[in-house]
Amino acid sequence: MSPPPPLRLGVNVDHVATLRNARGGRSPDPVRAALMAIEAGADGITAHLREDRRHIRDDDMARLMAEISKPLNFEMAATPEMLAIALKTAPHATCLVPERRSEVTTEGGLDLVTHEAALRAFVARLKDAGIRVSLFIDADPRQIETAARLGAPVIELHTGAWCHAVEEGLQAEEETEWLRLAAGAAQAAELGLEVHAGHGLDFATAETIAGLPQVVELNIGHFMMGEALFAGLDATVRTMRAAMARGRKNAGFAK
Ligand code: PXP
Repeated sequence: MSPPPPLRLGVNVDHVATLRNARGGRSPDPVRAALMAIEAGADGITAHLREDRRHIRDDDMARLMAEISKPLNFEMAATPEMLAIALKTAPHATCLVPERRSEVTTEGGLDLVTHEAALRAFVARLKDAGIRVSLFIDADPRQIETAARLGAPVIELHTGAWCHAVEEGLQAEEETEWLRLAAGAAQAAELGLEVHAGHGLDFATAETIAGLPQVVELNIGHFMMGEALFAGLDATVRTMRAAMARGRKNAGFAK
């Protein structure tokens, strides 16, 4: 069996901005966190410019683009406002996510099946501008087929339900969600899509999902920023990389 492709780590710095915004000043600075994460081994930085600007702000995106040496993954809702900002910012990639003001975090994947027609033009505009487009979806066969039809080169599988089941010790649900992710990653790769994964991952779940050979990027934020309070960001990134490397060694042989 040929070795699996490398697994990249994208570090999401949203919650450094959450902490900053709690006091309204300049610190802690998400750009400083991004630079430190890259120094410690991150392959890219992810930031979500939400409609309500609850964490990352417009000038954070501009500064990230200006100051980081690794790819910026701009997470955004598929709205005209965000499209205009993304086209102006010209990041390496955008990840389209659903967004509701009342949610605490991104609760489910984007419903491509329902919004296929509207998303078609949106994806095309970004692609025409040379921006890589990723669609954040649940590991559902119909969503994956639609992603391929939309011409997006990348999907990011929502790992939230699986991570929640692991954390709560819900074994039946964990097994179901894991099988769904594994099947979704295989289906997407067969359709020629690049597969990323993210939401709710910690050291243990990142190690497990690294065992899926089709997954080539993990985007992780909340757990790492919380852990960084205790261990420091540098050590947290290095520990995460080590967990991913352990999981990758078993790629293709995971449960
Ligand atoms: N990927 C996407 C598309 C997300 O929306 C988020 C949350 O912003 C993440 C990854 C990271 O999730 P978490 O902060 O739970 O690690």
